[in-house]
Amino acid sequence: MPIQKTYLLKAGFPCTLPTLPVDPARAVSWNITQELLCRLNRIKPFIIFPLVMLGATLPAYAKENLSSWKLPAVQIPKDNLQSTSKIALGKQLVFDMRLSKNESMSCASCHLPAAGGGSLTPRAFGHGGELGRWAPSWNNSGYYTSQFWDGRAASLEEQTGCLAGHMGPITAPGEMATSMDEVVAKLNAIPTYKKQFNNVFGSDVTPEAIAKAIAAFERTLVARKAPFQRYVSGDSKAISASAKRGFELFRGKAMCITCHVPPILTDNLFHNIGTPQVGPMKEDLGRYEVTKDEADNGKFKTPSLYNSASLAFFMHDGALSKLSQVIEHYNKGGNPQVKNQDPLILPLHLNDRDKVDLEAFMKTLTDPSLDRISAPELP
Ligand code: HEC
Ligand code: HEC
Repeated sequence: MPIQKTYLLKAGFPCTLPTLPVDPARAVSWNITQELLCRLNRIKPFIIFPLVMLGATLPAYAKENLSSWKLPAVQIPKDNLQSTSKIALGKQLVFDMRLSKNESMSCASCHLPAAGGGSLTPRAFGHGGELGRWAPSWNNSGYYTSQFWDGRAASLEEQTGCLAGHMGPITAPGEMATSMDEVVAKLNAIPTYKKQFNNVFGSDVTPEAIAKAIAAFERTLVARKAPFQRYVSGDSKAISASAKRGFELFRGKAMCITCHVPPILTDNLFHNIGTPQVGPMKEDLGRYEVTKDEADNGKFKTPSLYNSASLAFFMHDGALSKLSQVIEHYNKGGNPQVKNQDPLILPLHLNDRDKVDLEAFMKTLTDPSLDRISAPELP
């Protein structure tokens, strides 16, 4: 057992340390070492405590809290609550061609799940031929505070065109070109549908019930299983190093975040980003058609970017067909000659690696389960 030896330090406090047998020749240096150890021992709590605190807080700083990027729950209207059977009915309806005049097209003909929920042609084709606009993705549409590129519909129910006084795909002459009377009669004549509507809504088929079932299905089209959602929930390996650099560009140098605001990646507002105007509409005035305010000329709704990497075309008129073209459009500062272009669209000076990284990030926003949705069996 080592002998305990108490030193009275110069600072005036005693210090007890075990004394080891020491060679007399090294006794002086041993004593100095002992005294130093004693001093350190005294101030130990003042060193260790802050070190422990630092150790505990550093990882928290290094690992940023990204929970503000997590997709929230979709707002469900009180008069159209979700239920499994309602959602299943809505899914049948959007895949059912009997909802169109010649029974030749369903909602999903223009909103193809495999094509990111958008159309396969730059402008959608309906009963009246080529439409003026591209069919945007219906994925994540439950998050929008208004529907259509110009926001002219206030809700998903209204967007369907089933409700009196509202034009939408089922009744639009250029799209599915039918009438609600015709659709309701057709569906009521199909016993399984009639039974399903009675189960879900307590009544036979009505235009309102069709609208509600379709909207309930659309509210489930949320990209919750996208790798980026796993990343922001704490799985640091969910996305590649290139995508992580792309994420930094997205919210930094490339300024995408100013309009594609987290968590939904839209500000639910309208901007003119200088998209080239192509297709049968010589000039599409966008939001101006709704507000008749000159300031809204050429403004379109900011789309969410979830699953947009699966789209065959981009923008209200399908003017672009590759993500790399979209990035190039922003990189060159849009089309500065467009007089109402948003002042936030500026040359970005991205290099080749930046562009690759940004595209890699955009691809992490894709939830593959949405792209795999297929037609259910129809009654
Ligand atoms: C003929 C092709 C076509 C068919 C069929 C069609 N749509 Fe569309 N859809 C479009 C086009 C084009 C737009 C954009 C129109 C606009 O903004 O003016 C659109 C817009 C939408 C939007 C708005 C998305 C957003 O980002 O604002 C939703 C939701 C939608 N459609 C759902 C449906 C549903 C539900 C059906 C079936 C009842 C349907 N569509 C049938 C072409 C089609
Ligand atoms: C000033 C606001 C604004 C900024 C900044 C912005 N966007 Fe957009 N973005 C929009 C609007 C508005 C549209 C639709 C425009 C149209 O249809 O003509 C759009 C469309 C898109 C689309 C097409 C999606 C679809 O469904 O068709 C992609 C992809 C996109 N933006 C990515 C980006 C990226 C990447 C950045 C950063 C480099 C960025 N955006 C910066 C407002 C903005």
